[in-house]
Amino acid sequence: MPETIERPYILHMLTATPQMSPFDVNMAADAGYQVIVPYCNVLPNMVANLTQDAIFSRGPKGVSRTGIFIGGRDVMQAADMLDTARKAMVPPFEVSVFADPSGSYTTAAAAVALVERHLGKQHGMELGGKRMLILGGTGAVGRVAAAMAASRGADVTIASHHDRARALGVSAEINERFGIVTNGISVATPDELRGALADAEIVLATAVAGVQVISSDDLAFAKRLLIAADVNAVPPEGIAGVNVMNDGKPIDGVPNAGAVGIGALAIGNVKYQVEHRLFMRMRTGGKPVYLGFPQAFDEAREVAAGLG
Ligand SMILES: NC(=O)c1ccc[n+]([C@@H]2O[C@H](COP(=O)([O-])OP(=O)(O)OC[C@H]3O[C@@H](n4cnc5c(N)ncnc54)[C@H](OP(=O)(O)O)[C@@H]3O)[C@@H](O)[C@H]2O)c1
Repeated sequence: MPETIERPYILHMLTATPQMSPFDVNMAADAGYQVIVPYCNVLPNMVANLTQDAIFSRGPKGVSRTGIFIGGRDVMQAADMLDTARKAMVPPFEVSVFADPSGSYTTAAAAVALVERHLGKQHGMELGGKRMLILGGTGAVGRVAAAMAASRGADVTIASHHDRARALGVSAEINERFGIVTNGISVATPDELRGALADAEIVLATAVAGVQVISSDDLAFAKRLLIAADVNAVPPEGIAGVNVMNDGKPIDGVPNAGAVGIGALAIGNVKYQVEHRLFMRMRTGGKPVYLGFPQAFDEAREVAAGLG
């Protein structure tokens, strides 16, 4: 009698960078993938061939136990690669694909979903129309968070500590791509930063790890502040007074006593759950799914709602 071997769950992990993220490898294994294969330095024009190489060998039944993950650093390129992989499928030879470059889709989703949650919970307000300043908004997490918040109607300003041209360039890129309206400003000088803080109702810090972008002196200028959220988990605090553990704790030293902070570990907790759920959806959903940042945002809003 022929030996029957249960087919393992296989995840092909593609990245345009020289290395796949160990964080994502761990997450995939913890979601039940048994064979995890990284493919590094993958150019966008290699994605269709790699996808078709992955879908045909296991038969229509085996494809439900096969998945593709897209990592990398470039958030728009990863969205394009996801699209290319989807278009390369030949039904019924079709596998699930999930993109989360640099953790940016799930991290931005978690941050914006928690901001929405605390706006409702602490202030009885919605995101629509709120003025949101994103410091480090030109980076991977920042630009995705900007697109998500703008899609919910927030009045988003992307700030660059480098110069205005960089912020305007990123703003124009995401506006065109997603049909949204965001703005770009410089916060290169203390006066520029403090002027921007004076206008903001929500501040989201998504700058590079280990850098403080708002000091306690700067915070005194944030007179309309409702929520300050920081994704940086590496000391010092990205926003002075917003501890990594904070999840809606009042911030000391701000003019509006009702302003609350959301720290990196509170955001990380939601990010972790979102990424886990998306891997589980791929592996156990029974039909192919394509998971990009709109799906990450929906999932994060669901996780945040479940926090009560
Ligand atoms: N909590 C979580 O679960 C989680 C998960 C993933 C990532 N993260 C964190 O998310 C943050 C953003 O990650 P990312 O990959 O988006 O970062 P990134 O793209 O490397 O950098 C973000 C932005 O930081 C700004 N920046 C660079 N050097 C700076 C400096 N010296 N001072 C102030 N700003 C500076 C740059 O913008 P400008 O030069 O234009 O200002 C850059 O575009 C990091 O802190 C990362 O550790 C958190």
